[in-house]
Amino acid sequence: MAKVKKIFACTNCGAVAPKWVGKCPHCGEWNTYVEEVISREVTEEEKRRPWKGADKKAGARPVPLPEIQAGNTQRLLAPDGELNRVLGGGIVPGSLVLIGGQPGIGKSTLLLQVALHLKTKVLYVSGEESDEQIKMRADRIGEQAAHCYILTETNTTKILAQAEQLDPGLIIIDSIQTLSSPHIESMPGSVSQVRECAGELQRFAKESNIPVFLIGHITKEGSIAGPKLLEHIVDAVLQFEGDQNYTYRILRTIKNRFGSTDELGIYEMQASGLREVPNPSELLLSQKDEDLSGSAVAATIEGLRPMLIETQALVSRSVYSAPQRSATGFDLRRLGMLLAVLEKRAGLPFFQNDVYLNIAGGIRVDDPAIDLAIISALISSLEDIAIPTNICFAAEVGLSGEIRAVNRIEQRIQEANRLGFTEIFISKYNLKGLDPRRYDIRIRTVGKIEELFQALFA
Ligand code: TYD
Ligand code: MG
Repeated sequence: MAKVKKIFACTNCGAVAPKWVGKCPHCGEWNTYVEEVISREVTEEEKRRPWKGADKKAGARPVPLPEIQAGNTQRLLAPDGELNRVLGGGIVPGSLVLIGGQPGIGKSTLLLQVALHLKTKVLYVSGEESDEQIKMRADRIGEQAAHCYILTETNTTKILAQAEQLDPGLIIIDSIQTLSSPHIESMPGSVSQVRECAGELQRFAKESNIPVFLIGHITKEGSIAGPKLLEHIVDAVLQFEGDQNYTYRILRTIKNRFGSTDELGIYEMQASGLREVPNPSELLLSQKDEDLSGSAVAATIEGLRPMLIETQALVSRSVYSAPQRSATGFDLRRLGMLLAVLEKRAGLPFFQNDVYLNIAGGIRVDDPAIDLAIISALISSLEDIAIPTNICFAAEVGLSGEIRAVNRIEQRIQEANRLGFTEIFISKYNLKGLDPRRYDIRIRTVGKIEELFQALFA
């Protein structure tokens, strides 16, 4: 009889080992193994053939697909258009949704707001803050909903007993890392504890048909703690992100069993809570009247939403032997690559200069179509020649200095047109199948950096 009472588990990927190991053989992280106590004892036979002793009459049985009732799939509409959009059209009954994000980004605010504005009973479970703290936050949001119940408890059995009695329309858990199940001995926040608590909540959600939102912390590496474990258990994973120094917040879908993962929600953090931003472009373009060098507007698409974003570059003569490079909202390595392309293919002397790059609103942009705006902003600052404010850009830049086509070009052009731009620079390879006469905006095409240079700065 083998008694497995203690195991060692990786806090990063959840792999287990009988002994402590310095480097996880699964994810390659160092020093992530912690000891965990499992109190279940199983015999060797039970472990090898667990189905042998099972009662064939008990438990679920296979059902032919046509016999399954579609059931009540009526989604619960959140009082928040952005959240509904990200979830794929509302909250699915009995679903388990994980919302991750860095501390202080606004996860508790987002979900408390949902709880306050929803028209049904909501149970908000907090293991992190006291009732008074939550009350103070509700005061800031400016809502005192009588149907919003606060429970400060961390024991899952007690929480679920209360939840069953209250029978709310939605349960919010703030946060999964503070919960502990009495069936497991390890510390709250440990891998087995998080897994067990999430599992209990999932079973409760499925059985009661009450949707549950889990708030999850992010580890210092930027992933949701125990993410690999939770990602399998939950139905949807949302990530709340943004730069702490700016007010914009983006809610991204990482996984969604009930909708697309291309959706994106945008919020602005204000003194009285989060405000939805249905029209991001209008905010991400700075309202300035005069033409200043170093600024260019990119027609990007994040998720499925076109967004016009201003990029700003400052290129100034370096006083150090190693010039400085800094970027907010953009990958520093990609900036380095674009500078190398400009240097090698267009002969522009960035190596003597410090380069600072800023994306408006502190929003992180992954869309490669922002490249053309960035190199235009860089050249504009270097040459000190302003780009007229009626021009925007949408193309990727390749390593040999070629201007590459990007997806959904028509959507980008339409958005630029809608916002009153009169010229858009795109790749000449994007022209295929595009009828420029259909748009009320001048479409200018470029194939190489030199052509862009000629058109704007020569
Ligand atoms: P919080 O929701 O506690 O973040 P998280 O749960 O992700 O850790 O709030 C984060 C920040 O938001 C906090 O620093 C204060 C700020 N805030 C506002 O600016 N306006 C508000 O109305 C509220 C409630 C918070
Ligand atoms: Mg919080």
